[in-house]
Amino acid sequence: TRTQVAIVGAGPAGLILGQRLAQHGIEAVILERRDRAYVEARIRAGVLEQHSVDLMKEIGVGERLAREGLVHDGVEICLDGRRTRIDMSAMTGGKKVTVYGQTEVTKDLIAARLAAGLPLVFEAEEVRPLDIDGERPRVTWRKDGVEHTLACDFVAGCDGFHGICRGSLPEGAVTVFERSYPFAWLGILAEAKPAMDELIYARSPRGFALCSMRSETISRHYIQCRPDEDLEEWPVARIWEELRLRLGDSGHLINEGPVTDVSVTPMRSFVAEPMRHGRLFLAGDAAHIVPPTGAKGLNLAASDVHYLSDALIDFYGTGSGDALEAYSAKALARIWKAQRFSWWMTSMLHNFGPAQAFEDRVRQAELEYVLSSEAALTTLAENYVGLPL
Ligand code: FAD
Ligand code: DHB
Repeated sequence: TRTQVAIVGAGPAGLILGQRLAQHGIEAVILERRDRAYVEARIRAGVLEQHSVDLMKEIGVGERLAREGLVHDGVEICLDGRRTRIDMSAMTGGKKVTVYGQTEVTKDLIAARLAAGLPLVFEAEEVRPLDIDGERPRVTWRKDGVEHTLACDFVAGCDGFHGICRGSLPEGAVTVFERSYPFAWLGILAEAKPAMDELIYARSPRGFALCSMRSETISRHYIQCRPDEDLEEWPVARIWEELRLRLGDSGHLINEGPVTDVSVTPMRSFVAEPMRHGRLFLAGDAAHIVPPTGAKGLNLAASDVHYLSDALIDFYGTGSGDALEAYSAKALARIWKAQRFSWWMTSMLHNFGPAQAFEDRVRQAELEYVLSSEAALTTLAENYVGLPL
């Protein structure tokens, strides 16, 4: 069989790309390693920038998002138990963010794709992009013991950080820039009313904490922990207690409820450049990872495929490869700004431990300064709501 674009991975990047290409009459086949239930249940990001919301709307999957998404004008930052509200909307000419879980984004996109009868293969094993240096790339995979081959014009590697596409590039094809952090996030999902109607990011001597949400009845909270944290040591009572201590909550802020998920997320910054080799294009986590502080991961996946779909639409419309040629540089310019913001928010809000006592004092002072300065708060706000495409 043959298609125009073979998309590897049915995460937000692959699904949005497939949807936008279909809207413009470009054929694609999406190949996903996992099953549908797994992909739809994977709890990850929760905050959408305005441009991501606009993109969902544009590609025809904005209806439930508009109905159920929680629109936020601001966030709170809590420093040593004292909270300051940042009115981000007022500081950015009216931009807002929307709380809508990545699980819901994925469900809406999968439902739209299947309803339209567009090809999406789950449980595709051993997906391999081949001949990407030539004019006629192919992708092969196995499903239910049967080998398949798909000829295509282009391969879109939307298969996340641990995917096959980046790793299948020849030695030296990409340069990697990365940094790891000496901590991780322990996240919980709970059937409990959120602490406030906006998110609270907290810095405290005990470490970072974040009170987020998925709906008016579901809370999503995170606390900084060790990268090798043993969840056995974190009975839920201890997690609630630690959240309270980090928020300086004497008992009126955080609402407890049954905890339905506990997980640990490692923190890293990573960029692979360029995001193209031959006829293979990387997008989303396949090309870059940001630490989650600042909620940029999912939004970058959306902006990458916005650029990539524009370039493919241009190619099929005009026959010129110029836009495809420019894709990597265009995407990377925005990615590096989000990397900077995520790294900065991560540094300023976490506790790096006794080995960095001097730097921790500087980070504490930086956050105090930011909270005292209209100018500094404005730069935080304009990055948080999302830089222009
Ligand atoms: P993914 O969502 O990773 O999708 C890639 C898809 O490709 C997956 O469905 C995968 O199964 C599939 N795949 C992988 N390998 C293959 C293969 N060989 N063949 C076929 N298919 C394959 N961001 C935030 O902003 N806030 C958060 O709180 C947050 N929490 C996170 C928690 C975790 C545990 C992780 C891993 C990420 C988190 N992120 C968070 C980041 C955010 O979720 C990602 O940036 C976003 O999912 C990127 O979308 P993507 O489509 O590029 O990649
Ligand atoms: C969430 C995750 C983030 O990384 C963040 O900065 C804000 C919210 C969340 O999962 O709700």
